[in-house]
Amino acid sequence: MSKTLGNLVLFTLLLAACDYKPRNQGKVLYERNCQSCHMESGQGLGRLLPPVANADYVLEHRAELACIIRHGISGPIQVNGVTYEGEMEGNRQLTDVEINNLVHFILVDLNKQKEHFVINEVRNQLEKCSSTR
Ligand code: HEC
Repeated sequence: MSKTLGNLVLFTLLLAACDYKPRNQGKVLYERNCQSCHMESGQGLGRLLPPVANADYVLEHRAELACIIRHGISGPIQVNGVTYEGEMEGNRQLTDVEINNLVHFILVDLNKQKEHFVINEVRNQLEKCSSTR
């Protein structure tokens, strides 16, 4: 392999490594686990499925998002002025880190927030919710 080609390969690998960000894994996890209901850009589906993008509920319950993702949510809730009386199952297959990345994606990408949580904060939130649910 020529030196230039070698450098090019190295550079590409480096770029790929730099591309690893919580939000990127969050996006993939969102597509796999959430998009079927909350839709591609998080807009939800009318009065059936609440939006998770630009959603007042998300911003008002940011510290509960991790618990909602792991344990689900049911009963009447209001999102952007619409009442939803649905039920969402929990996602117990997701690890703390994966939930952290999902919360990051929802807050930063879907709700344009600058503030997000670090993994220890999310772990703390998850420990508290498992004891009450
Ligand atoms: C099978 C459909 C379904 C899937 C899949 C699903 N949800 Fe939900 N989700 C719902 C429903 C229905 C509600 C409203 C529950 C209620 O009325 O209390 C909801 C509520 C929510 C809420 C609170 C309300 C809001 O819109 O802000 C959040 C946050 C949320 N889901 C995030 C997620 C995330 C993240 C995933 C993927 C890990 C996910 N959901 C997967 C159906 C789903």
